[in-house]
Amino acid sequence: MALPQSFIEELKSRIELEDLISGYVKLKRQGGGYIGLCPFHSEKTPSFHVFPSDQHYYCFGCNSGGDAITFVRAIENLDYVDAVRFLADRAGMTVPEDRESRERAAQRADVLEMNTEAARWFHTQLRANPAAVRYLSGRGLTEKTILHFGLGYAPEGWDNLLKHLKSKGYTEPDIKRAGLAGVASSGRHYDYFRNRVMFPIIDVRGRVVGFGGRVMDDSQPKYLNSPDTPVFKKSLSLFSLQNAKGVKAGRLILAEGYLDVIALYQAGFPEAVATLGTALTGEQARLMARYTDEVVIAYDMDEAGRRATDRAGDLLTSAGLKVRVLRLEGAKDPDEFIKKQGAEKLRRKLDQTEGVVEYRLSQAANALDLSSDAGKVSYLQEAAAILSELRSPVEADVYAGRVAREIGVEKESLLSEAERIRRGRQKKGRQQALEQQQKMLRSGVPRINPERAQHLKASRAEEGILCLLFDHPDYYRDLAEVLTPDDFVTDFNRRILIAFAGAIEQGDKPDLSCLQDFTIEETGAVQGILLGRNRYSGTREELAELIETLLDLRRRSQLHRQPLEGEALRAYLAAMGKQK
Ligand code: GTP
Ligand code: MN
Repeated sequence: MALPQSFIEELKSRIELEDLISGYVKLKRQGGGYIGLCPFHSEKTPSFHVFPSDQHYYCFGCNSGGDAITFVRAIENLDYVDAVRFLADRAGMTVPEDRESRERAAQRADVLEMNTEAARWFHTQLRANPAAVRYLSGRGLTEKTILHFGLGYAPEGWDNLLKHLKSKGYTEPDIKRAGLAGVASSGRHYDYFRNRVMFPIIDVRGRVVGFGGRVMDDSQPKYLNSPDTPVFKKSLSLFSLQNAKGVKAGRLILAEGYLDVIALYQAGFPEAVATLGTALTGEQARLMARYTDEVVIAYDMDEAGRRATDRAGDLLTSAGLKVRVLRLEGAKDPDEFIKKQGAEKLRRKLDQTEGVVEYRLSQAANALDLSSDAGKVSYLQEAAAILSELRSPVEADVYAGRVAREIGVEKESLLSEAERIRRGRQKKGRQQALEQQQKMLRSGVPRINPERAQHLKASRAEEGILCLLFDHPDYYRDLAEVLTPDDFVTDFNRRILIAFAGAIEQGDKPDLSCLQDFTIEETGAVQGILLGRNRYSGTREELAELIETLLDLRRRSQLHRQPLEGEALRAYLAAMGKQK
């Protein structure tokens, strides 16, 4: 569905791209623009650029780029129309209503209603199933906790919930859309959750958006989560955030699982949340940053938990959060710790958690033998590497002092080693940025435009034409006289030309918002092409030359091919006429 161009333009004029992006990325001024760590791929040195003058961004590392709408599509994982809606919300504008969006809103409302109905029904089933209640109380949950989280039970059998929801007027495809039914290859629908205790997932607005279900024995899979639905995306949701968001604790606790969060809640820590069986995502980290400045990671005490802690630590720090790490002794996770050692002991542990830096330093120390000289040297090197990543010199100084005392070396030598590592990384980063920029020109666009390699000269000319047209829509008349989109050799560039031409013919300036049918990657490639604009002087003569180059190449290959027809023929003849 196409939204009116005038609306999109008004919307974009009300959004300051650097403001929008700085909500997700820490931006630093550089030249006339901004630079930061790319949110779309992992990097240590910034190659993500924001150009305020024409309100676009581009990452030289991963070739993502575009305008405000592209950015929101990519970072919030939304389709075009929803990204526009998201921005309209921010800008205080109302998106013109259309049939399709009304239909989708109705579908979402239906899914939410089915979820609420299912949650109620699961809870009723729990009451009718003593074994399930026994399981939950066996896990230490009180009646009050069960009620607070609205826990339930999905009984055995293939169509209990299906029957119930059908009796409420929903159809099988409706129920499937809500993620509450699966479809067998025979076409038969069946209950998605069977013989599991059920954990409703509730969003910050209090709506049931999905479910997690756990088996009561050790069969597999242990947990089953709702699939993504029109109201639920695992990578964007956090279990129990509705409980945690208003808590005055000044922190959120990030645990691994449902039962950790529930046990923490029951023990007096309502600020606990968990991801839903997936590793933490950048979106979830940023979501947490909306509600707090500090996150305590309370993952499991096994090797997988340690690795996940490192990863989550990076993501949370990038989201601007202060990160601390809880370390438990004698228990594998918070749930077990509370059972074995009690809530008070946990509170004390939570109040003396280590910062990520201390955590990393002690992880490094634990892995080495500090009584040997070789062990000490390795530890100092790892410590210097950890310190080299700190942004605050004060922080680096404090930790360097601590490590230096511990090992018995001068703090200054440790700090200068850290500085040396940092410089080396910066230099490497600059080199990489340069290489990446070149790689982008070699690979980003060619991947999206596979014909480019075979027709390198022609597609370069096409790209030049697009660049000139982008900056000088008033050249369009000249261009249209001699060249039509059919003259373009590569399909991808032709699509861009058609989109630009469409905008210009409607009296608009070509702009990334006329690329509504393009994927995010394709928009990034267009942005990559347009970045080459400064290579051109921008004169009409230059445009004429590019057109001639293209038509010449086209003619030479065409003469040996099929005769032209229709539009292409007319353009061809016109171009020939122009040559004389
Ligand atoms: P309990 O064993 O009941 O104490 O749960 P737990 O949360 O301690 O389990 P575990 O540490 O094994 O897993 C942590 C989280 O990962 C769970 O809460 C789930 O969200 C997720 N998870 C675990 N097993 C599975 C699985 O088989 N499938 C999926 N999709 N997620 C799982
Ligand atoms: Mn557990």
